[in-house]
Amino acid sequence: MKPVKVGICGLGTVGGGTFNVLKRNADEITRRAGRHIIVEEIGARRDNPAIDTKGTQITRDIFAVATNPEIDIVVELIGGYDVARDLVLTAIENGKHVVTANKALIAEHGNEIFEAAQKKNVMVAFEAGVAGGIPIIKAIREGLSANKINWLAGIINGTGNFILTEMKEKGRDFDDVLKEAQELGYAEADPTFDVEGIDAAHKLTILSSIAFGIPLQFNKAYTEGISKITTEDVQYAEELGYRIKHLGVSRRTEQGVELRVHPTLIPEKALLANVNGVMNAVVVDGDAVGQTLYYGAGAGAEPTASAVVADIVDVVRTMTADRDNRVPHLAFQPGSLSDHPVLPVEQTETAYYLRMQALEQPGVLAKITSILGEKGINIEAIIQKETSEEQVPVIILTQTVQEQKMNEAIAEIEAFEGISGSVTRIRVEHLDG
Ligand code: HSE
Repeated sequence: MKPVKVGICGLGTVGGGTFNVLKRNADEITRRAGRHIIVEEIGARRDNPAIDTKGTQITRDIFAVATNPEIDIVVELIGGYDVARDLVLTAIENGKHVVTANKALIAEHGNEIFEAAQKKNVMVAFEAGVAGGIPIIKAIREGLSANKINWLAGIINGTGNFILTEMKEKGRDFDDVLKEAQELGYAEADPTFDVEGIDAAHKLTILSSIAFGIPLQFNKAYTEGISKITTEDVQYAEELGYRIKHLGVSRRTEQGVELRVHPTLIPEKALLANVNGVMNAVVVDGDAVGQTLYYGAGAGAEPTASAVVADIVDVVRTMTADRDNRVPHLAFQPGSLSDHPVLPVEQTETAYYLRMQALEQPGVLAKITSILGEKGINIEAIIQKETSEEQVPVIILTQTVQEQKMNEAIAEIEAFEGISGSVTRIRVEHLDG
């Protein structure tokens, strides 16, 4: 059979990794795909001295790749939104299948891109966009297709997890670890995407769409980063038997779908609590299968290339199939997406860790607990540290409550003169149902 010709746009960390994996494992990949896969052309605005591209045609014009009549599959690895969107839509318009690692692109423009792809009867594959090398899209979209998914939760940003792990285990400075993550090629071009949870929210948006069969709605995701996590909170969490991880959580409730990324206390015995460094992991709870866990490298050249190349193989295998006989982009048939709403964060439910500075006076603790009690918030645990100072740290773990109720309680606690400064709040998930 004729070889399949691929054009790679972008020769950075992931582009370079993809080129190398395709070359190194060419025989094995051909045995799997049933056809030779050759890199016909690379579009890159600059050379990557670490990659030996000798013998492969290179252009500085990435759009020339998207319109090259020889090319069957365009692999978009330039990242970003606008140019990537134009590139992908141009490729689709020219009848090319597309493979991308660009979660920002899919989370923000996926609905439009999939619609264009359906019209042109081409595929857009994006496994590498979520959790690096872990085949989580394939697992949810195909492996769990019998299930009604209840919830999923994951560590889906390698850079953030690398930073939290190094800070906790080696006491390293935030900026120093971030710099190393950038040097290792883990971090986004704008690393605030990693530390402020935007990258994780892009990925969670995609996961929740394929889990619950709803359109992509990144603008409704609640996003909170890790830059305000203090070593005190890490230590208090440990005393209480928890670890702090930056989680993406999406849960189906009767009222709607929760879609939130934030630092989270999880029990230290939970498998996710023991996912360290650049590793990612996602727990998916389905009504038939129960809980399943997916673990692997969430960033880096070859782990991400592993997912890109798997997508290329998938596309090659079904290139000749009609669009109605392929796995739908968002797991559910395009006409069967549901309008179950994404809930505002105030309507989501979780347990909480609260830390505040209380005056060392009689009645202060009683007042705090009574504010919580009046809002119907049950206290799970409470720690008051012994001190000779006038102010004492008080740490409270609550049971599950609606966020709106907690906002009201925190506002009252902060207004109480027995408390100084603001209340630190970190959400708590037990991941057990
Ligand atoms: N910046 C991302 C991360 C890269 O650290 O997880 C992989 O998506």
